[in-house]
Amino acid sequence: MRLTTWQRLVLLSFRGVETASSQLLQVLAFLLRCLHETFASGNLKGKKLIEIGCGPTVYCLISASKYFEEMVMSDFTDCNRREVEMWLKNEEGCYDWRPVIQFVCDLEGRSRSPEEVEQRMKQAVKQVLKCDVREKNPFHPLTMEPADCIVSSLCLEAACKDQETYRRALGSIAALIKPGGALVLIGVLNETFYLVGQHRFSCLVLSQSIIEEILRDLGFSIKQVNIQLTDGSEKEFYDAESFFHLVAHKTK
Ligand SMILES: C[S@@+](CC[C@H](N)C(=O)[O-])C[C@H]1O[C@@H](n2cnc3c(N)ncnc32)[C@H](O)[C@@H]1O
Repeated sequence: MRLTTWQRLVLLSFRGVETASSQLLQVLAFLLRCLHETFASGNLKGKKLIEIGCGPTVYCLISASKYFEEMVMSDFTDCNRREVEMWLKNEEGCYDWRPVIQFVCDLEGRSRSPEEVEQRMKQAVKQVLKCDVREKNPFHPLTMEPADCIVSSLCLEAACKDQETYRRALGSIAALIKPGGALVLIGVLNETFYLVGQHRFSCLVLSQSIIEEILRDLGFSIKQVNIQLTDGSEKEFYDAESFFHLVAHKTK
């Protein structure tokens, strides 16, 4: 079957599943809508935003780039950071994010052209850094100024082998947010594995109540949780029960 650009993009960039995946397309659209609504609400804006565990993707920050002056992207692996840098510098062979940018432009009421939105995001991203969420300071040896907002998508459940590590990682992320700042967390519930190409990655099984409990213990007030259930049709590629998008404010 011939894949559309959008599908190729999802397959290559979103989670690397080697099939034409209509469900992942729906998930991506769901996440882009949630991110648009979160930032367009006007409640989340400021000087600095950090993304933790961006992978080779840029979709999480397209909407945010309208509201933050300075964005830092980060990931553990060199090759993922390299992909993002290639896109930022318009290097040959970089991923083509235009279908996703077009989708966000439509959500924004087409007040800007896709080219303008792409430029807006590229100008806002000031650094692409190495991070390790399992470290007390994920940016060690750098010391990061706390940010107004942190975005992290599908990273923590992939990076943390057990609940205690997950709790500590969220604590390290919380320390990077200013009091009154926000966390935008995207993840999967009750997933045990996912495939990227031929590689099978294990995933920490989490429930919504555990995540909310950890966040409350860390001093967050949960403002919003959106859930997209999966239908099990792609369970040979990943077995998540649902994808979630959560917004929480750091109260102390
Ligand atoms: C499933 S991918 C998600 C990528 C992207 N955020 C998305 O939404 O598609 C998980 C990401 O977590 C990153 N990661 C794994 N362990 C990590 C760690 N200890 N610290 C930071 N990032 C990590 C991986 O390199 C990978 O890019």
